[in-house]
Amino acid sequence: MSTRTLIRGGLVVTAAEELHADVLIEDGRIAALAARGTEAAAAWTADRVIDASDKYVVPGGVDAHTHMEFPFGGTFSSDDFETGTRAAAWGGTTTIVDFAVQSPGHSLREGLDAYYAKADGKCAIDYAFHMIVSDVNDRTLKEMDLLVEEGITSFKLFMAYPGVFYSDDGQILRAMQRSSVNGGLIMMHAENGIAIDVLVEQALKRGETDPRYHGEVRKALLEAEATHRAIRLAQVAGAPLYVVHVSAEEAVAELITARDKGLPVFGETCPQYLFLSTDNLAEPDFEGAKYVCSTPLRPREHQAALWRGLRTNDLQVVSTDHCPFCFTGQKELGRGDFSKIPNGLPGVENRMDLLHQAVVDGHISRRRWIEIACATPARMFGLYPKKGTLAPGADADVVIYDPAATQVLSAETHHMNVDYSAYEGKQVTGRVETVLSRGEPVVDRREFTGRAGHGVYTPRATCQYLD
Ligand code: URP
Ligand code: ZN
Ligand code: ZN
Ligand code: ZN
Repeated sequence: MSTRTLIRGGLVVTAAEELHADVLIEDGRIAALAARGTEAAAAWTADRVIDASDKYVVPGGVDAHTHMEFPFGGTFSSDDFETGTRAAAWGGTTTIVDFAVQSPGHSLREGLDAYYAKADGKCAIDYAFHMIVSDVNDRTLKEMDLLVEEGITSFKLFMAYPGVFYSDDGQILRAMQRSSVNGGLIMMHAENGIAIDVLVEQALKRGETDPRYHGEVRKALLEAEATHRAIRLAQVAGAPLYVVHVSAEEAVAELITARDKGLPVFGETCPQYLFLSTDNLAEPDFEGAKYVCSTPLRPREHQAALWRGLRTNDLQVVSTDHCPFCFTGQKELGRGDFSKIPNGLPGVENRMDLLHQAVVDGHISRRRWIEIACATPARMFGLYPKKGTLAPGADADVVIYDPAATQVLSAETHHMNVDYSAYEGKQVTGRVETVLSRGEPVVDRREFTGRAGHGVYTPRATCQYLD
């Protein structure tokens, strides 16, 4: 039986326009939009009517960088696909692209199948996968072609973490050459991990074991150097490049230089780099461990370059890199040795709100908020226009957003499975009120109404941002 939902009276905001319009949803998809007061809109009837007066009606968020149940440093990130996607829904995100992991010595296929199984039946919202390639060789290069055909159209490589996920320049070049042919997009963790490991060892020898030294050894210059090298390798291979979790002003400068030459080079940053800094890493009593992630938080002065990059489109996407580890029992693994602190921050629930706060603060426009959080991630990773916009035919992934409500971010009230908030006590203006995933309410006026297994796996097309 067909169900019709009507969202009345809101301000529809997409990357392309703002419009006082009513939205008609039929069978899980957007059926039509009509400007308020028009005859068409007045004539619509529905089984369910949502009053969005004084609210924004925006596309569900697309978080293109999360790590549920991610193996790192001898432990696993504390959100699984059930808890993590439920928290995402609470925060107005209706699609995640997580990372399947190739274990060294095993095939991409095995790694991917393990992730299909981990997520199956668990997710509250729709999901897709990138593939982390930790061993580029003849066999895995061939597998990349098959994965692109299967809907896994992006591959993360690491210039950091020698002995774990690290690829050398030859491996990177070969993977890029392959992606230039098969249409895959290489996502790069750009930090010079070989040099960083030398600095880590030297710091520990000097007795510099506190979390703040994580930020000191993982130097901005070594992020910039790796970013530069990745860009050059991509240029040689004739491949596009997407640099993940950009945090250093010097790395942004490398992207700008490449883009000014017309190279297809893209950059993502994350809320933690926009709102947090090395001041957090320096918090006493090992509290700084809560803020250990890689690339690391930078001195506050770097933030201006990130905001500017987001405005000028030298940075195109804001994802969370959600990779939570509890303070108790997980972050604590690195007491007395910062290099043993599992890397990653929680945030999948906070992204849409923090970026709305950026609108309130005047860093970005309302439409740019939706562009960097919904539309561009969907286009970059082959999910558009099914995801990332509100247009006839698109999945009815819709957020009714109250721009006037205020809230205080806190571990007391968040839904992520982690014992702290990276934004504890921060007041933000704006709050998710209702969230539809393919037309189904998963959050209904601040009540969770979704369920594990509602979310479906969504294969992806190749990058749509190059056209
Ligand atoms: O610290 C981080 N970012 N942890 C997740 C893994 C990665 O490098 O993205
Ligand atoms: Zn195997
Ligand atoms: Zn990374
Ligand atoms: Zn990550």
